[in-house]
Amino acid sequence: MLCLGIESSCDETALAVVRDGVLLDAVLASQADIHALFGGVVPELASREHYRYLGTLFDQLMQRLDLRPSDLDVVAVSRGPGLLGSLLVGVAFAKALALGCGARFLGVNHLHAHLLAAGLENELRFPALGLLVSGGHTHIYRMESPSRCIVLGKTLDDAAGEAFDKVARVIGLGYPGGPLIDRLAKEGNPHAVEFKRVYLEKDSLDFSFSGIKTGVLNYINSEKQAGREIVPADIAASFQQAVLDVIVKKTIAAAERMGEKRLVLAGGVAANSALRAQLADACREKGIQLFCPPPVLCTDNAAMIACAAYYAYQEGVQDDLTLDAYPALDL
Ligand code: KG4
Ligand code: ZN
Repeated sequence: MLCLGIESSCDETALAVVRDGVLLDAVLASQADIHALFGGVVPELASREHYRYLGTLFDQLMQRLDLRPSDLDVVAVSRGPGLLGSLLVGVAFAKALALGCGARFLGVNHLHAHLLAAGLENELRFPALGLLVSGGHTHIYRMESPSRCIVLGKTLDDAAGEAFDKVARVIGLGYPGGPLIDRLAKEGNPHAVEFKRVYLEKDSLDFSFSGIKTGVLNYINSEKQAGREIVPADIAASFQQAVLDVIVKKTIAAAERMGEKRLVLAGGVAANSALRAQLADACREKGIQLFCPPPVLCTDNAAMIACAAYYAYQEGVQDDLTLDAYPALDL
């Protein structure tokens, strides 16, 4: 079964082909450089770029795989959550393609796809605990099956990735901030500054990351006022450690409370090298099996869309051409 996945929910235009759940090839055009000029994603520019690249990328992918559009059994697209204009470009493209080549059309929940991305490299087993940490979400789920996920905890304000991006801006790094902080933190001392860890009330599995940007700003201002030199690498490492301490502690607490012995990691922040290492250590200590996609499958990509569609196809899910894009879609 050949399934094409299309991802255009934010600032990556991506297409991938999966055969029976196995990734064959993928193409991706990142818009990061364009949005970096503005310090964050500009929705109008994002939709235009998707429109500009989708057709060319599709042709390139078909050529590389020596496939014709009529070979595709399923055309799947990210239907939300995300930027409305960007989603609409992908959904319209996918509908036209499915109609034109007689393939089954499927709209995929972007969050769902992130959670299933680890299934491209290792067979996922359920139930499992799911940790989704991205630019828009910080959620802990109980994953009962590929299609059924229950929220156990979530961020009450900023997502983890949003915190990385905001703090990167504060310390003068570019956009997107996550990978830049990840890199810079390797040269810094994670205990140089003790930024506040926000755990909320006892036993809460929710998160709050909106205060940490102010914490970093206040620290920088007070150091400047005191005439002390600021060490960006120490700030990056200390900020990152403060965020990771909370994420790792709550995730392990959730796994223990739910009696889960499997953990699925997902989302752009899951590409963070320190998070991967610290979560792996914590899981090893607690006897939890960690399913962790490679970094390229953590950030937005189309292979995860095709993979999620493959699971949905097996469950008999089919959409028709009245399907809409939903910017605020939840699981
Ligand atoms: O999943 P994703 O590609 O898009 C959304 O669906 O949001 O996640 C993007 C987020 C951005 O906030 C980016 O800064 C963050 O993931 N990110 C990282 C790393 N790579 C991407 N955060 C920390 N460390 C990284 N290595
Ligand atoms: Zn995403």
